[in-house]
Amino acid sequence: MTERGPFVLWLTGLSGAGKSTIATLLEHELRASGRRVFNLDGDVVRRGLNSDLGFSLDDRHENVRRIAEVARILLLADTSAIVSAISPIAEVRAFARSIVPEGHFIEVFVDAPLEVAEARDTKGLYQRARNGELADFTGIDSPYEAPTTPEVHVASSLLTPEESVAMIVAVLDERFEAAEPS
Ligand code: ADX
Repeated sequence: MTERGPFVLWLTGLSGAGKSTIATLLEHELRASGRRVFNLDGDVVRRGLNSDLGFSLDDRHENVRRIAEVARILLLADTSAIVSAISPIAEVRAFARSIVPEGHFIEVFVDAPLEVAEARDTKGLYQRARNGELADFTGIDSPYEAPTTPEVHVASSLLTPEESVAMIVAVLDERFEAAEPS
């Protein structure tokens, strides 16, 4: 069924899977098509609103809860949210979904195997985790529960970011009326 937006696009996946790259491209593409959209990046939110939180599972839960609440507020302002957060625990992602009005939460699994994310290691964090300098690192000594029934599953290690974005936009167009370009 086609509903009116806005929506929350929730990108989950390992560090280095490509969430932020895809989110930035998506933000531009959706803006260009006339949608009001805000990019809520986990890394950015952790520098401000969530700067009091670490990476224990409890803190990650609280991180996700606050991000979902901000996304809900954006929805009230008729603005869609693109969230990029590892959000490693399935039950916590389900909780985030429950905060958003029914049918308006789109889970996107940005799926790159650990070996690929670790080989890229754009921020050098996997190396630090392997060296024992960083504890509780997702995929190394902290769990990642892959989604089993995401609305969109992008194999980000096999696709270009543009191809991943196209897959996501196709699902959005199917579910939500496109906004009129202003
Ligand atoms: S979440 O698990 O709480 O959803 P979030 O997406 O906000 O995580 O933050 C992950 C980012 O924090 C990673 O991309 C990485 O840059 C950084 N980071 C620092 N320490 C860790 C860690 N122990 N585990 C995962 N990411 C970490």
